[in-house]
Amino acid sequence: MSRLGHSLLLAALLASPAAAQNLDSLLARMTLEEKLGQLNLLSAGGRASPEQMQLVRAGKLGGLFNVIGAENTTPVQRIAVTESRLKIPLLFGLDVIHGFRTIFPIPLGEAGTFDPEVAEATARAAGVEAAAAGINWTYAPMVDIAHDPRWGRIAEGSGEDPYLGSLMAAARVRGFQQSIFATVKHFAGYGAAEAGREYNETEISERTMREIYLPPFKAAVDAGVASVMSAFNSIAGVPASGNAWLTDTVLRQEWHFPGFVVSDWTSVIELMQHGVAGSQAEAGRRALTSGVDMDMQSGIYVDSLAALVRANRIPLAVVDSAVMRILRAKLRLGLFRDPYRARTSPSAAETRALARRAAGESIVLLKNEPVGRGAACCAPTLPLSKTATIAVIGPLADNKPEPLGPWHTLGQAEDVVTVLQGIRARASAAQVVYAPGAGIEDTATAGFAAAVAAAKRANVAVLVLGERGDMSGEAASRASLGLPGVQQQLLEAVAATGTPVVLVLMNGRPLVLEWASDHVPAIVETWFLGVEAGNATADVLFGDVNPSGRLPVTFPRVLGQVPIYYNHRNTGRPPDPNNKFTSKYLDVPVTPRYAFGFGLSYTTFAYSDLKVSPARARVSDTVTATVTLANTGKREGTEVVQLYVRDEVASVSPRVRELKAFQRVTLKPGESRAVSLRVAVRDLWFIGLDMKPVVEPGTFRVYVGSNSAEGVEGGFECIP
Ligand code: BGC
Repeated sequence: MSRLGHSLLLAALLASPAAAQNLDSLLARMTLEEKLGQLNLLSAGGRASPEQMQLVRAGKLGGLFNVIGAENTTPVQRIAVTESRLKIPLLFGLDVIHGFRTIFPIPLGEAGTFDPEVAEATARAAGVEAAAAGINWTYAPMVDIAHDPRWGRIAEGSGEDPYLGSLMAAARVRGFQQSIFATVKHFAGYGAAEAGREYNETEISERTMREIYLPPFKAAVDAGVASVMSAFNSIAGVPASGNAWLTDTVLRQEWHFPGFVVSDWTSVIELMQHGVAGSQAEAGRRALTSGVDMDMQSGIYVDSLAALVRANRIPLAVVDSAVMRILRAKLRLGLFRDPYRARTSPSAAETRALARRAAGESIVLLKNEPVGRGAACCAPTLPLSKTATIAVIGPLADNKPEPLGPWHTLGQAEDVVTVLQGIRARASAAQVVYAPGAGIEDTATAGFAAAVAAAKRANVAVLVLGERGDMSGEAASRASLGLPGVQQQLLEAVAATGTPVVLVLMNGRPLVLEWASDHVPAIVETWFLGVEAGNATADVLFGDVNPSGRLPVTFPRVLGQVPIYYNHRNTGRPPDPNNKFTSKYLDVPVTPRYAFGFGLSYTTFAYSDLKVSPARARVSDTVTATVTLANTGKREGTEVVQLYVRDEVASVSPRVRELKAFQRVTLKPGESRAVSLRVAVRDLWFIGLDMKPVVEPGTFRVYVGSNSAEGVEGGFECIP
């Protein structure tokens, strides 16, 4: 058992049948107003207001969020458990997304580790820090699959792949729920917002919903997530926060989800703007009867639904079920026994070490070409030589707040190690020259001259460019995917000096990197890495950490390719360079700039001898793919071995490739190893013509390699 004293698992065990019976008798004693009060959730501004305390006293609040610090949660919990008539404790929620005080990489970056253990560890650490501040419930993990980098919230999820997304979702739920409750969000399809425009409607077929968007939610439910947040968007005209198919048919009836559903921020009252409710009461009725148990921030359930229940327009049983789900959650969390849940803070050193490791694993090396001519030819640009003179340039090079990224909770800029600091910690003062060049969104180029001069004096220029942390996250859609402001010009001006350039990117979404990919020898994608950004980046730049991150999302060549993702269907006319009348563009290749799963290392890996066995397998079997992986370079390195499958012929057009397994493998230089990946044939389902999951007999191609566009090939036959 952890030093938290007890885990949620133990709390669940303590939630005995007797306790459950007590809940029944508690429900029997509640007035209708008190019941609706349990379904009411309001935000505070750091601490509860006097009006909110009064609501607690009157039994009209089930939980509060954004009350931060045990010194603020404890007094209001005391009111709930000593001054309210029924003494029901409160939930205290918060968006603990990628860290509480110690900020870890944004979830998109962390997904690029392909390391669910790391995701579990950072979620656990974040939960422990939050619990020490009185929080008992987070609104994470966000598991929305996204195909559109314009959408700012792509930063908060695990990218485009349902399999990777599912493993990350389950890992984060396990991590958080060692100390606090998790909420999987946003149910569902929010990531498909049309044109990448925030809060926009979505058109998702039931097949695509079930194959692509829902699996990470299912994985979170299977991992025991306590709550599910209903989304803002509509799906084919039906808003997710008033969508009985999602929150009742799929979630409760098919998946047997035992927890509760909370709305997103005012998403209940927004049913009026969606045009599916003509009054607040109608919006509340629609949401509650669709299966949304708790009303975040609209105040409608508590204010407007009692009359409808009394008029028999909402069955009392619907209210009772919702209330019981909230009460059971509070029981499972141990709140009736220990409402204050005072916890001690974890050791900061341990958490920072984890932040550095997670950040290092998240970094993706996109390009690393040799530079130099003649005798100096041809070492790759990276890692940097420890004796080189380095010009560190760019608005993000010595910037403290931005590496925290979006949704950084209590993260503090002062905790951040910048890239410049990380580099300076390893190089002598004389070796490093710094010039910001421009601000992130500047239109002025006055700072270019100093940056160019610095580059001219140096052996290598490290340019740290990208977005502001809040250019991704909620309400942060962009209609262009280039570097903001004059950063592209800065990059070109520095590159024109002839000094080799290492482009270090900080961003919350895939960017369009055409010029850089063609003209800059080395590109390092660092996302927003959190407090250890500078140390982790320097670890990679100097080769102390060999990069092993892989892209969890496709990088397009141009915005006009969006949506672009690897697991699409084939079309009747797949692209053929020799045939105009095939599926492609006149002006750009159809392929992405950087494929899903792509990422380089300072060493090289070779794949050979793929064997898939058995050659004929039944749906109940497991197929094993064994490949020889060799480290053909000069350094130890970690490869993410990826296995993709393609169903050759099926009753529904199959996707060209689907990730079904992966494994991180570390090899010494010259070492080879047989690596085996296992896939249960039953996991190769798709949604059939009858809208049910099915695995059809036939041939499956298997690809094992270092990204979604490469790999050695094999196959097996699925027999009836
Ligand atoms: C966001 C949610 C978040 C909630 C509470 C909403 O605006 O969409 O992701 O959990 O606010 O802060």
